[in-house]
Amino acid sequence: MNVHVNIKDDLENMPLTFENRCMALVEELEIGCRADVQEVRPLTGGVASDIGVVRLTDRVICVKFALGKLKVAADWRAPVHRNRAEYEWLRFAQSVAPRNSLELYGCSEKLQGFAMEYLDGADVFLWKAQLLEGATPQGGAARTANLLGRLHAASTAPGFDAAPFHNQGDFRQLRLDPYLSYTADKNPDVAEILRRLAETLFAASAVLVHGDVSPKNILFRSDLPILLDAECATMGDASFDPAFCMNHLVLKAFHRPRDHAALLAEVAAFWAAYARYITWEDPSVLEARTALVLAALMLARVDGKSPVEYLDAVAREQVRACALDLLTTPATRVGDVLTRLKMNEGFQ
Ligand SMILES: Nc1ncnc2c1ncn2[C@@H]1O[C@H](COP(=O)(O)OP(=O)(O)O)[C@@H](O)[C@H]1O
Ligand SMILES: [Mg+2]
Repeated sequence: MNVHVNIKDDLENMPLTFENRCMALVEELEIGCRADVQEVRPLTGGVASDIGVVRLTDRVICVKFALGKLKVAADWRAPVHRNRAEYEWLRFAQSVAPRNSLELYGCSEKLQGFAMEYLDGADVFLWKAQLLEGATPQGGAARTANLLGRLHAASTAPGFDAAPFHNQGDFRQLRLDPYLSYTADKNPDVAEILRRLAETLFAASAVLVHGDVSPKNILFRSDLPILLDAECATMGDASFDPAFCMNHLVLKAFHRPRDHAALLAEVAAFWAAYARYITWEDPSVLEARTALVLAALMLARVDGKSPVEYLDAVAREQVRACALDLLTTPATRVGDVLTRLKMNEGFQ
């Protein structure tokens, strides 16, 4: 719905439409006055927010508001205060990796929204679009893993302020229930494993987890990845983020059989890059947990509440079979997971 909405001048007593909220946000954050808002263009792709590009008289910005009910087929609700957690996560990323960050213009508690730089230009692209287009993988996985590793490690350093990120309840609601518990209900053979894993992830708090490290939330500005959409951010278990991202690459490997090997090589590169940053726990223990979470998420993206849209029935069955095998006979190394996924190449 890429409609362009022109703004009327008189907004008093108008319903709280997206456009009105954008104007109220611009005013509250003292970015400008309502009359400066020339145009609002909703951005598509997300399911959890109202997000759009706002053209002001002197610049273009991006604004985002959290939605209480997500735009997916299943009934899936989420607390709107996660907008604040997202803003705090973006601020944290900016402090750790300024070159991999966008400018932030403020957050409104009242409107549950925030404003940020709009990333645009010939050198800006969404990683997901590149991966689905069929382009040869360009090393984006290792670059993303380097960023993620730095962020995770920084969140375990002395002086890190975890106060805004005690969001384990939101994480359960947004991630563990719809992905792992819902999938457990549909797969009785591995239900116990998935439920135990969900409990482990829920109980953890060692690292600041982003919670949605997906190619659709990563914009590259030239070769620098910029991670967006941190509304699930919480103190939690480090395994979740690398497993979540590697899972997307694994699913793309099933979606693009001709590039199966190249995409699995990207997964290997991802883990190799990320693993160099693990200082907060025994790397082999974290790797084994990551391998299991990866298998769980593979199954979750075919049988959970938010299945990926691009896999056909054959690929879905392949992913399901591999995931069930990896859950019942777990691999302890990411490399072993990949070897087993490659062995299954025969039925591509
Ligand atoms: N600051 C930004 N600049 C340019 N594009 C953006 C920006 N933020 C988000 N987008 C685009 O909008 C899409 C949806 O934003 P996202 O924050 O992921 O929202 P949702 O929570 O709805 O998924 C992203 O996939 C990306 O393509
Ligand atoms: Mg998103």
